[in-house]
Amino acid sequence: MFSGFSLFPTQASTLAPEIDNLYLGVILITAFFAIVVVVCVTYFAIKYRDHTGDKIGAPITGSVPLELGWSLIPFVIAIGIFVWASIVFFHIVRAPDQTLEIYSTGKRWMWRFQHIDGQREINELHVPVGRAVRVVFTSEDVLHDLFIPAFRVKADAVPGRYSAIWFEPTRVGEYHLFCAEYCGTRHSGMIGTVYVMEAADYQAWASGGGATAGGTLVQRGEGLFTQLACVTCHLPDGTGRGPSLAGVYGSQVTLESGETVTADESYLRESILMSQAKTVKGYEHIMPTFQGLINEDGVAALIEYIKSLQAGGNRVASAQ
Ligand code: CUA
Repeated sequence: MFSGFSLFPTQASTLAPEIDNLYLGVILITAFFAIVVVVCVTYFAIKYRDHTGDKIGAPITGSVPLELGWSLIPFVIAIGIFVWASIVFFHIVRAPDQTLEIYSTGKRWMWRFQHIDGQREINELHVPVGRAVRVVFTSEDVLHDLFIPAFRVKADAVPGRYSAIWFEPTRVGEYHLFCAEYCGTRHSGMIGTVYVMEAADYQAWASGGGATAGGTLVQRGEGLFTQLACVTCHLPDGTGRGPSLAGVYGSQVTLESGETVTADESYLRESILMSQAKTVKGYEHIMPTFQGLINEDGVAALIEYIKSLQAGGNRVASAQ
């Protein structure tokens, strides 16, 4: 009768056991104290019941050891849970340095994915087993939420900014992919499948089936860079009207205001779509906005291209 019934989804990423253990730990601690309280209440209620009905309980004025005990023990337990949960939290939010980047866009009512090698897919996500994968995503319309229960990862897709999740799949197989934020009539249909493949199968998949017809993400980005005339201002040697983009990704950029920001994906995205938001120190406020001229997939391609530009103007292969 309960065949196929499971309380938890399969554990298919390195994060999954960590999150489940924390959850189980909190449940066990809570259950332990709930049981102790119920047993004590029941036991004392029976043991000290008043047969005659006319006795009055002894006045209790307090007990220092008891009060210290019921303050300190829960304090230590609560701090213990806090520290444990914080460690797990940092593992969830901090992706390892070397990750396979995949770009995604949520829109009513589908998830689009773009791989570095050029493969594009809708409501399907192919990833290799045993490799840390980072999905950078945004929304083209309303709030969505990318949720892969088997990996225990979930984050909102917010229009106008990037979110990211990372996971390292541990088991080959097919897993559910959901939108976990009500986004309109067909929200329940905004679902898909994650295919975790052997590394070699993934390589074959990523480079096969006409994947390279539109070029890799970097090549598409390079095309857009020329097509949108970015290339006329952002000269590689820094003599153009805009700053050189060589080696900019991941670097610290000083703004006009004197403020310093890290040039991550969100910064690059904002600088393309809302070019007036931040101006690099020493440059003029002249870059036009590319809002409406380029879609999210194009922005992802441009960012991947910018990432591939290293200091000195050389291109490096983005393959890791
Ligand atoms: Cu998209 Cu719910």
